[in-house]
Amino acid sequence: MSTSPSTSPGTSPGTSPSTSLRTEGLTKAFGGVTAVNGATVELLHGKINGLIGPNGSGKTTFFNLVTGMIRPDSGRTLYGDREITRYSPHRIAHAGLGRTFQLCRVFPRMTVLENMLVAVRRTRLRELLAGSHDRGEVERARHWLRRVGIDHLEHAEARNLSYGQQKLLELAAVFMGDPELVLLDEPAGGVNPALIERIVTLVRELNQEGRTFLVVEHNMDMVMGMCDHVIVFDRGAPIAAGPPAVVQNDPRVLEAYLGV
Ligand SMILES: Nc1ncnc2c1ncn2[C@@H]1O[C@H](COP(=O)(O)OP(=O)(O)O)[C@@H](O)[C@H]1O
Ligand SMILES: [Mg+2]
Repeated sequence: MSTSPSTSPGTSPGTSPSTSLRTEGLTKAFGGVTAVNGATVELLHGKINGLIGPNGSGKTTFFNLVTGMIRPDSGRTLYGDREITRYSPHRIAHAGLGRTFQLCRVFPRMTVLENMLVAVRRTRLRELLAGSHDRGEVERARHWLRRVGIDHLEHAEARNLSYGQQKLLELAAVFMGDPELVLLDEPAGGVNPALIERIVTLVRELNQEGRTFLVVEHNMDMVMGMCDHVIVFDRGAPIAAGPPAVVQNDPRVLEAYLGV
């Protein structure tokens, strides 16, 4: 189910109310490799959107384009009533998008709590190093650490956490920015099944509270079980999109995955 952008005269070229974010013809090449190739994608507002596709199909590059980490060669990205294509990553975060990285990014020699506090621009590094923290920020950090279940580790150095715990820390840190649209790149990658279950439950709860998600994931069972809307990438562009049950039986999807 897809909707078209508002075309009423006099309005900005924004997205319709049921659309959270929309890309149009997004394209990015690295040398001879076109990683994302004319991708027109719609994320449903208030839903858990999934993005799947074979290795090298452009999922991470798409993520990096949407979050401003890299600039597209052509195409554009709309979020709500704004075109954010050329925004800096900081401005995109400020507009309400939060993201994690496929390979977890935490500061290994900082404590868990410090990692949470540097996630917020308002906390200046000098204050952090001087040990003087904004009380409200510390409370918010503890709240999110509790929600992901690692609040007991707040004084541990991040490098002493297990990989799964580091992923939970990165997830918690994203919420310090209070994002409306949350992009997760392979949240289950390298994580044990019990922890995957915890991440799924958390994403569901946060979605119930009104946040939209885009989850890029290799784990098909996780995506099909958790997402409302699944987009399938192959060679840099979507080849199918819809509810999990529909996408799962799409011959184009089977072909992309199984080569049948
Ligand atoms: N920085 C880069 N430089 C050169 N090639 C890249 C770069 N990033 C991605 N690619 C290439 O673009 C294609 C898509 O990669 P990627 O977006 O990481 O796919 P996915 O996340 O779906 O596995 C791959 O062929 C990859 O090798
Ligand atoms: Mg990737």
